[in-house]
Amino acid sequence: MTKYRFLAALTMLAASLPTAYAAPLDATASANVAANTYSNVQQVRTRHIALDLAVDFKKSVLSGTATLELERIDPSATQVILDTQDLDIAKTETSVDGEVWLKAPFTLGQSDEVLGAPLTITLPADATRVRVTYASKPQASGLQWLPPAQTLGKKHPFMFSQSESIHGRSWIPMQDTPFVRATYEARVRTPKGLRAVMSAEMHDKPDASGAWTFKMPQAIPSYLIALAVGDIGFQSTGPRTGVYAEPGLLKKAAYEFGETERTLQLMEQAFGPYRWGRYDILVLPPSFPFGGMENPRLTFATPTVITGDRMLVSLVSHELAHSWSGNLVTNASWNDFWLNEGFTEYLTYRLLDMQFGQARGDMERVLGLTDLKGSMSHLDKIDWSLVRSTPPKDPDAVYSSVPYERGNLFLTWLEAQFGRGAFDAFLRGWFDDHAFQSATTGEFVAYLQDKLMAQQPGKVTQAQLDAWLHQPEIPDFAVLPHSDALNKVDQERDAWLSGKTTLDALPAKQWNVHEWQQFFDNMPASATLEQVQLLDARYKLSQTHNAIIASAWFRVAIAHGDKAVLPAAQHYLGSVGRMRLISPLYRELMKTPEGKAYAEQTYAKVKSGYNVIAQQAVERILKGESGG
Ligand code: BES
Ligand code: ZN
Repeated sequence: MTKYRFLAALTMLAASLPTAYAAPLDATASANVAANTYSNVQQVRTRHIALDLAVDFKKSVLSGTATLELERIDPSATQVILDTQDLDIAKTETSVDGEVWLKAPFTLGQSDEVLGAPLTITLPADATRVRVTYASKPQASGLQWLPPAQTLGKKHPFMFSQSESIHGRSWIPMQDTPFVRATYEARVRTPKGLRAVMSAEMHDKPDASGAWTFKMPQAIPSYLIALAVGDIGFQSTGPRTGVYAEPGLLKKAAYEFGETERTLQLMEQAFGPYRWGRYDILVLPPSFPFGGMENPRLTFATPTVITGDRMLVSLVSHELAHSWSGNLVTNASWNDFWLNEGFTEYLTYRLLDMQFGQARGDMERVLGLTDLKGSMSHLDKIDWSLVRSTPPKDPDAVYSSVPYERGNLFLTWLEAQFGRGAFDAFLRGWFDDHAFQSATTGEFVAYLQDKLMAQQPGKVTQAQLDAWLHQPEIPDFAVLPHSDALNKVDQERDAWLSGKTTLDALPAKQWNVHEWQQFFDNMPASATLEQVQLLDARYKLSQTHNAIIASAWFRVAIAHGDKAVLPAAQHYLGSVGRMRLISPLYRELMKTPEGKAYAEQTYAKVKSGYNVIAQQAVERILKGESGG
């Protein structure tokens, strides 16, 4: 038996054990969970989901059935309430044994713009399963349907899901909360020649009936169910890693992500076994609204990180680290989101240290801190802390780098108080002791008290924990990162801007993407329009193929009133849909009346190419709402 087979067998064993009963939720935790779901999770919980779906590209619709196996927490429960958003519900049935199905009455409540509509199904006393026959709508917020023109190959359509945080309900009627975990299986029928992939065990061919079949044997939260369909090929990069992409991008993707197995091994050495079997990466078309999404066994990734120099692989480290923080131990509610992203960001930086040396990790830490300060500058104070006093109704509306970078600063500070050895052991214990469970911030604090604060008394006070978790300001005792390399970029930029050196003296030819980012991130307002234009003339920035450098450049050019870049910026905004890259440009344009008009005109032109989640984010910016 190979090491991997052995680990896989262990994992299966662990996953097949009955789920440990979660302790009853306290009032705060249940309010947090209830803020984003209609489902009656204190009465019934889904333990398995079986999907049988057909993919219709002509109608932009998924249709079929979702069968949910339920565990009764409250034996007197007479109904199950599921989350839905824009679903056409045709029929609901219940079953005792999974063989005989009885039609069950249902009601679809009033629809809320953010939460969708509750689907209430009457549950006979002995029923253990419900089956919903349904179809999604073309405007489903969790799905994007791309015409061939929006793909690399230009011949076939493409579709993908993005369920986090609460968009899964727009394509599956389910208890759409990270508090509930279920295993899943699926059968997906696609048009001939197109392949379906999911965040589950897969086969490289459809079954005899022509359907693609999937099985996820580990219990996962609803936001990790993921599907993509298109002209998708596969290339292996290691014993348990590989890339899926449109055929024209496969080779480049396989090179870019060629070190994934090594990253997995580093994570395993420090924080315990990888418990999901394979780790593959699916490269999506450029309208994918995120950098990456940690769908289990199959990370979804933006093509903008494929730059040919492996400089943006921290994205892989990040999504891969979620296999521990997020997928294995999951935030119980979206008000505990920092447990997913703060842990993951901390682990990402630790991985960068291990893979490329601490200087590289520190570069990205410093850029992360700049991001955090940028977010705080346009967020309401209530969103500066790790945990909000009132849970957000729409997690997308409060999405920002705060849970990521403040979360990382918190864990970095804890590490400094207790020492790396003790802190690493603590983290490993956190993952092992909560594996395949959802956890609250309160549980984290209790675990911290039990495993570290009690062993090393006097190192950390309650007031300090409160400052990190609930107060707005970054604590003045935070341990902040420094990067000599990035400080050097600051000096070089400022020497040029102040006339001490010439543009030709900038060592820009040797700069990597992070150094460029720093160059633009800290560009002072006092830089003149002429200086900014000189940069474009000298380095052809408006034509760069590096989407990260392009975004940073366009923001600076717009901020300094460089109108000559606007056509190129508009073209860029129409070719990339990754929110982190496009939002700063819209936000910058909104600062002047002229820019605002240009932003609106640009958005009207390119909107149809954006994912619904990105559309909503840009619309919030155009309306002048605060947010990430
Ligand atoms: N899980 C997130 C993406 C996400 C967050 C989707 C909230 C929906 C709601 C993912 O792991 C992530 O953090 N992506 C980052 C990657 C970056 C930090 C390397 C992104 O997309 O920018
Ligand atoms: Zn993440």
